Amino acid sequence: MGLIENLVQRFQGGFALTPEPILREMRDKGIKIRIRGLTKSYGGLHVLRDLDLDVHRGETLCILGESGSGKTVLIKSLTGIVAPDSGEIFIDEHDVMNANHRQLHALRMGLSMQFQQGALFESITALENVQWPMVMHREVKPAEAQRRAADDLRSVGLTDDMHWKLPSLLSGGMQKRVALCRAIVQRKPLIIFDEPNAGLDPIKCAAIDNLLLRIKKEFKATLIINTSELFTAYNLSDRIGILHRGRIVEIGSPDQIKSSTHPYVQEFTRKSKEFLPQIAKFQEELSHWTGQKVDDGRRDDGHLGKKTGGF
Ligand SMILES: Nc1ncnc2c1ncn2[C@@H]1O[C@H](COP(=O)(O)OP(=O)(O)OP(=O)(O)O)[C@@H](O)[C@H]1O
Ligand SMILES: [Mg+2]
Repeated sequence: MGLIENLVQRFQGGFALTPEPILREMRDKGIKIRIRGLTKSYGGLHVLRDLDLDVHRGETLCILGESGSGKTVLIKSLTGIVAPDSGEIFIDEHDVMNANHRQLHALRMGLSMQFQQGALFESITALENVQWPMVMHREVKPAEAQRRAADDLRSVGLTDDMHWKLPSLLSGGMQKRVALCRAIVQRKPLIIFDEPNAGLDPIKCAAIDNLLLRIKKEFKATLIINTSELFTAYNLSDRIGILHRGRIVEIGSPDQIKSSTHPYVQEFTRKSKEFLPQIAKFQEELSHWTGQKVDDGRRDDGHLGKKTGGF
């Protein structure tokens, strides 16, 4: 939201914005998202319990937790898709918990999200799915939207013949990559990924990790990545937050998480570590594999396609 729009909203009244002292503190500390006391239950199931979390501007934060620990509920709360029972969520100047529809729209213009189940439109092609956010918001001319979408699809190894297929004709892993492209294509300052590589074979899983690493280096965006994969978290994160029993029970750099004394974190990392040698082996193999070379019409605007070899 621009300065003028922000001022107009404040004078119009009735708009819930991050209170000035909190916003100032967030800016001073480089915090983009501030969550306090977030609570969400479904009937008797307490999913989030008084959860606190700060996300720093420009960091890559992995939320690591077991299946069912509430990772998806947490990120859907951030974007106003799930309505928490209580707590505070501030994303920059947006007071998410008290936002009306217009404010949620403004908030969502500043972020993009890859949904765990893909959430692709079934009646349009993979390419149209990826183009869709740019076309809907009329950000660029249709031909440019198509070119960017095609570039990104190639960068995740989806060759041109795949671009024109309906999602139902693609494998689950391919659909996942289309959904990932749709999330990154606008280069938003905040991108949220929900299990970007779950269910993929280890080679594709490692390749998605590599792509996310590139996004991290090239976009300078704030990335939140939900994952159950310890290796992904170690590989990508500036910080890892461990979600357990509705709270972030530990947060820190990969090294801090590795040396955590928290009993649950120790148990989680020990169990997950049993699989690390296998995954590392696949990573190693992948690093020697150049895959299919893609002619992507190199460009100089930082678009991902320029460094791509397919995988
Ligand atoms: N709309 C809903 N109604 C009832 N229960 C729900 C709803 N959404 C989520 N839950 C429950 O909340 C808990 C947390 O779900 P969530 O999807 O956030 O877990 P998760 O950590 O993302 O798991 P996974 O790693 O399997 O994706 C689960 O027990 C789930 O069944
Ligand atoms: Mg989930």
